[in-house]
Amino acid sequence: MSIKFLLNGETVELPEANPTVTLLDWLRETRMLSGTKEGCNEGDCGACTVMVTDDGGAKALNACILFLPQLHGKAVRTVEGLSGPDGEMHPVQEAMVAHHGSQCGFCTPGFIGSMAVAHRNGRVDFDDALAGNLCRCTGYAPIIRAAEAAAEHPVPTWVQDVAPAVPASALSPESGDELAAWYQANPDGTLIAGATDVGLWVTKQLRDLGPIAFLHRCKDLQQIKDQGDHLRIGAGVSMAQLHPILKEYHPSYAEMVRRYGSEQVRQAATIGGNIANGSPIGDNPPALIALGARLHLRKGVTRREMAIEDFFVAYGKQDRAAGEFVEAVTITKSAPDLRCYKLSKRFDQDISALCGCFSVTLDNGVIASVRLAFGGMAGTPKRAAKAEEALVGQVWNEASMDAAAKALAQDFTPLSDMRASAEYRMKTAQNMLHRYFADLSGAPVSVLEVQP
Ligand SMILES: Cc1cc2nc3c(=O)[nH]c(=O)nc-3n(C[C@H](O)[C@H](O)[C@H](O)COP(=O)(O)OP(=O)(O)OC[C@H]3O[C@@H](n4cnc5c(N)ncnc54)[C@H](O)[C@@H]3O)c2cc1C
Ligand code: FES
Ligand code: FES
Repeated sequence: MSIKFLLNGETVELPEANPTVTLLDWLRETRMLSGTKEGCNEGDCGACTVMVTDDGGAKALNACILFLPQLHGKAVRTVEGLSGPDGEMHPVQEAMVAHHGSQCGFCTPGFIGSMAVAHRNGRVDFDDALAGNLCRCTGYAPIIRAAEAAAEHPVPTWVQDVAPAVPASALSPESGDELAAWYQANPDGTLIAGATDVGLWVTKQLRDLGPIAFLHRCKDLQQIKDQGDHLRIGAGVSMAQLHPILKEYHPSYAEMVRRYGSEQVRQAATIGGNIANGSPIGDNPPALIALGARLHLRKGVTRREMAIEDFFVAYGKQDRAAGEFVEAVTITKSAPDLRCYKLSKRFDQDISALCGCFSVTLDNGVIASVRLAFGGMAGTPKRAAKAEEALVGQVWNEASMDAAAKALAQDFTPLSDMRASAEYRMKTAQNMLHRYFADLSGAPVSVLEVQP
């Protein structure tokens, strides 16, 4: 397939690009641009972070899980392209030197990539912007000080790339209609949206993906539509794009998304990919189940919709036919008592060991309806039917939550794995229900709020 993009300001055209070669491998092995480092090769360490500009602006992305066709019509800057035409350092590079932000230097190009994007976008929430970059030796304080110092300086003109206009590319449908036609004709094909899951199938499992369609050029799938009481979120909406909307309508869900992967992962990962992959520990499904979301699927010209919880049939099995794709998900705008709790070994940039998302409606202090959704407790994201049953019609108090917590043992038989033991999962799930009660009663429940 033929692709075209800008690399450090120069046009690159690849008439026969292998669709599953990652940008990282291509940079290092074909272009000999070895400034971009390989640490984990699975999106976790940020050593491979580069700046990618498209019509949505500049983004920090992990080159190790970014396939070359995803760059078609975009502009890439690696660490080699961040200094000026006469060798002038970028303000973040100068600041890293001045503030002693680098020791062994392995993480430094990745940090510089993330910092240059934050600098270009005028961001000063550096703890969030840099949470996806790991440093083993320097420690984060000098790096954050460098980012703060660089913020005082203007954005150099040479990094302000404009994404080039390009013709359509064979593997990238330009709309939901084109995608529907392609997928119906290639029902065994692989869809790639952000590649934050699929990237690892290639880099870690060395899988052959068969026929591929990249979804990132289907702009009509990347829209969030206001439908009065509801929002219709296109499958191609990224977690970064979704975050500000959630902040407005569902702040607790937004807070969970703030901790979803890292900046680099949130810029790439889509809500459709997170739903379609059907992982029992994906963060969106429990929140969407608690919100009573409707899922919209499409195959060819045929569309259907369902309650999102019905989509997750069993571990690794979803109610999705061959050639059928996730088109959108619809959520209510109003769920003031929605709360989302993510429990992971590390606070930032970690997949959940357990995720609990709850929503309740009270009528004069009595529970009229309730949705308790968990991830990490079963082979699928799932409602706690018995615990919900124990609550409906009861007074909203600690005793009712106690009864619901006990009923959880009938709802779930969690597994032990590398993230948590079965006992830990059950205990913390029960504790989450008490946390929910405390939270709605106004008590501080987040580790960020609780003071010693
Ligand atoms: C470092 C790292 C951290 C992560 N942290 C988190 C986290 O905190 N929480 C979390 O939930 N997940 C996390 N993930 C997992 C991943 O980011 C999410 O599952 C993500 O939302 C997947 O979206 P994507 O667009 O990248 O999907 P892709 O990788 O492109 O695709 C995933 C699957 O969905 C299919 N697919 C994609 N779009 C569609 C569609 N529209 N219709 C049908 N099928 C489709 C693909 O064929 C594939 O089977 C993390 C991943 C990494 C690498
Ligand atoms: S090499 Fe670790 S995120 Fe890419
Ligand atoms: S300077 Fe050595 S890992 Fe960061």
